[in-house]
Amino acid sequence: IADVKGGANEGLDRVGQNVVLMGWIRTLRLQSSVTFMEVNDGSCLSNMQCVLNPEAEGYDQVESGSIATGASLCVQGTIVESQGSKQKVELKVNKIVLVGQSDPSYPMQKKRATKEFLRTKAHLRPRTNTFSAVARVRNALAYATHKFFQENGFVWVSSPIITASDCEGAGEQFCVTTLIPSSQEVTESPVDGIPKTKDGLIDWSQDFFGKPAFLTVSGQLNAETYATALSDVYTFGPTFRAENSNTSRHLAEFWMIEPELAFADLNDDMACATAYLQYVVRHILENCKEDMEFFNTWIEKGIIDRLTDVAEKKFVQLTYTDAIELLLKTDKKFEFPVAWGCDLQSEHERYITEKAFGGCPVIIRDYPKEIKAFYMRQNDDGKTVAAMDLLVPRIGELVGGSQREERLGYLEDRLEELKLNKESYWWYLDLRRYGSVPHAGFGVGFERLVQFATGLDNIRDTIPFPRSPGSAEF
Ligand code: 4AD
Ligand code: MG
Repeated sequence: IADVKGGANEGLDRVGQNVVLMGWIRTLRLQSSVTFMEVNDGSCLSNMQCVLNPEAEGYDQVESGSIATGASLCVQGTIVESQGSKQKVELKVNKIVLVGQSDPSYPMQKKRATKEFLRTKAHLRPRTNTFSAVARVRNALAYATHKFFQENGFVWVSSPIITASDCEGAGEQFCVTTLIPSSQEVTESPVDGIPKTKDGLIDWSQDFFGKPAFLTVSGQLNAETYATALSDVYTFGPTFRAENSNTSRHLAEFWMIEPELAFADLNDDMACATAYLQYVVRHILENCKEDMEFFNTWIEKGIIDRLTDVAEKKFVQLTYTDAIELLLKTDKKFEFPVAWGCDLQSEHERYITEKAFGGCPVIIRDYPKEIKAFYMRQNDDGKTVAAMDLLVPRIGELVGGSQREERLGYLEDRLEELKLNKESYWWYLDLRRYGSVPHAGFGVGFERLVQFATGLDNIRDTIPFPRSPGSAEF
């Protein structure tokens, strides 16, 4: 008849209405003359308090114990003003129909289960406040992502999941094969990501694709082909990395948003990343108020103010060289030593955003070419490339991007220097042969964005079914 969106915190205008609510019982309190039942259908954070008198049709199921926490049901009743202080309205129940019973072993009974415990119950955790709120905010961020790019004239491009090229050149790909018989022993740590038997006998020409194929680490190279035809494009899809990092910021399977802008340089790229981040943050502050209040109270105190600053204030920008100088000047002792040419570790990134710039997002640009991927455009100094990383507090790198090397000769030289197989990049090099243009793009780790927007400590709580080393249940 009517949904009860807005839950029990709003809806005063609906007092007197007859409604049907379908959902799951969060809590049940039996008193002698009246039973209180908190029901949630996932449409919003707040539960609907349902008040049952023994006169309600179907009340015998409460008495017999078949209506219990976790059960699904359908209740019909009238919205009335609540006597309690916790909610504005409640549902006075006329009729109750049990849809699915819940066994007493239902594991979501405890009010404050730890996130570690809930990770072992990934199939039921969306029935908790935290994980239903995360799911709604994640959804809102995905919606805002498409909205931002669509409103700005970008075309969404589907990049392939299975690929033969290693975009980042880091050898962190999962190999896709139909070949290896289970009896054959495979070498333990393949250097290039390609499995080999001890005697090297895998005949890849016999495999499904006729050569080694992998799950993609990034859709960028494919996005570039469409950007050099349609101008501004973006991808938004799953990516995979077999990096063995068991950290709170890494997943083996994560979603990435990768815009690619034609006729654009690094400054355009940084401006786009800034506008994107500010747009999606503003979107959830405006459209996910109840869930954001929840995170503000229970997950990260003050997150709403911090995100409001992100949406409104200018981001800091500095070069890698200046960042190194800043790190060398502090008294803080780092685990990893700092020197020009080193890759910034998360302790360095966190110091820069959290301490040096007081929690503001920071964009670092012009990194040494040795620590960045082959496709980045070489700067005139010959030592650095037009790369940028956007860092945020707690998480470190949220966005990584660059202007691409659009000059054929430079790109060929770089592939050779890095001993990458030039032949396999023939189509990528073609883009520089036929109507090459300056272009730039970036990748946003979607789960890191959800982490940033919710205040969650661990990235495994930002995706419904996290994949990390040794963990692929559900
Ligand atoms: O910096 P990365 O490796 O850049 C690229 O893949 C480029 N091809 C992007 C581009 O220019 N189109 O990855 C981009 C972002 C990182 O900044 C980080 O937020 C996220 O992807 N990321 C991960 N997120 C979760 N788990 C992992 N293992 C991640 N690795 C990278
Ligand atoms: Mg990066």
